[in-house]
Amino acid sequence: MSETSPRLRAVLDDIPTYKPGKSAETGGPVGYKLSSNENPYPPLPGVLESVTAAACSFNRYPDMACTGLMSELSERFGVPQSHLATGTGSVGVAQQLLQATSGPGDEVIYAWRSFEAYPIITRISGATSVQVPLTPGDVHDLDAMADAITDRTRLIFVCNPNNPTGTVVRREELERFLDRVPDDVLVVVDEAYREFIRDAQVPDGVELYRRRPNVCVLRTFSKAYGLAGLRVGFAIAHEPVAAALRKTAVPFGVSQLAQEAAIASLRAEDELLGRVGSLVCERTRVVEALRAQGWTVPETQANFLWLRLGERTMDFAAACEQAGVVVRPFPGEGVRVTIGEAEANDILMKVTEVFPKER
Ligand SMILES: Cc1ncc(COP(=O)(O)O)c(C=O)c1O
Repeated sequence: MSETSPRLRAVLDDIPTYKPGKSAETGGPVGYKLSSNENPYPPLPGVLESVTAAACSFNRYPDMACTGLMSELSERFGVPQSHLATGTGSVGVAQQLLQATSGPGDEVIYAWRSFEAYPIITRISGATSVQVPLTPGDVHDLDAMADAITDRTRLIFVCNPNNPTGTVVRREELERFLDRVPDDVLVVVDEAYREFIRDAQVPDGVELYRRRPNVCVLRTFSKAYGLAGLRVGFAIAHEPVAAALRKTAVPFGVSQLAQEAAIASLRAEDELLGRVGSLVCERTRVVEALRAQGWTVPETQANFLWLRLGERTMDFAAACEQAGVVVRPFPGEGVRVTIGEAEANDILMKVTEVFPKER
């Protein structure tokens, strides 16, 4: 057999493979998974029924135009259908956005640390990442991000709330930043955790999009709506961008099961948002308890919190696993912990109670 392998693109050489949150089964003795910012509630019976019904015809391709879902979303957000595009999770839509805007020689700006898919999908597109460090308080440094714009900038991600820190940027500073971005640069406001926000000063990205043709909002059914396993997300953007997203979509990427589940979830929104409310209460309980124990916890508006543990990160993650909860460590930096069911959160708080706060 020949030693030569097919030629692959050189950019793949230094792309880190996306690292999913570790599963509970391979973790500790009890096994609560607090590592992937998932919704701990099981599917609502009505949503499950609609998925089961759709399963009877999965010998057929799904509706490629996602007609029913588009019509529900259009009504729910008060936007024309031509301003909507769906994809295989919002990460799928983010990748389509890069394919539509950026290639070799172009630059993509985002805060760092932020969602770990950004560097991967940027590299795959052939464009160059421009990572702008978070402020010492773990918030987007929007002034520095605006300063980083060059003639080569094609796309800017603003992750609000930011994964993994949970921190937010507020209306005034975001508007000021957007005023500084040239009209031909696309700003993607990634609102994967929008429904968990309780800070009234945080703008709804959809409001920004209505007044600014270069703003695109990313949303997902994976988090608040609990459909992570079905892979459906969407973008709200002005027509040229939304049309480009339809061109770059994987044909039939969003399954009929996902489409029906998303429609049923929008119709059961009150109940689902009630669950989000309970998770937000849990968030408050956990953050207050950790602070009372002496931890520094950045203000989080998402369904997770961030502990900047530095060199002690892996020890903390191991202690959590030992106790029965799997968290998401970023070696040398910190740990992201999803707010889960109360029992899981209680285990976390037991670990934080005894784990040394400072070396
Ligand atoms: C900030 C952010 N954006 C997008 C996503 C992608 O979610 P999905 O592809 O499931 O919609 C995630 C998932 O963790 C995220 O944290």
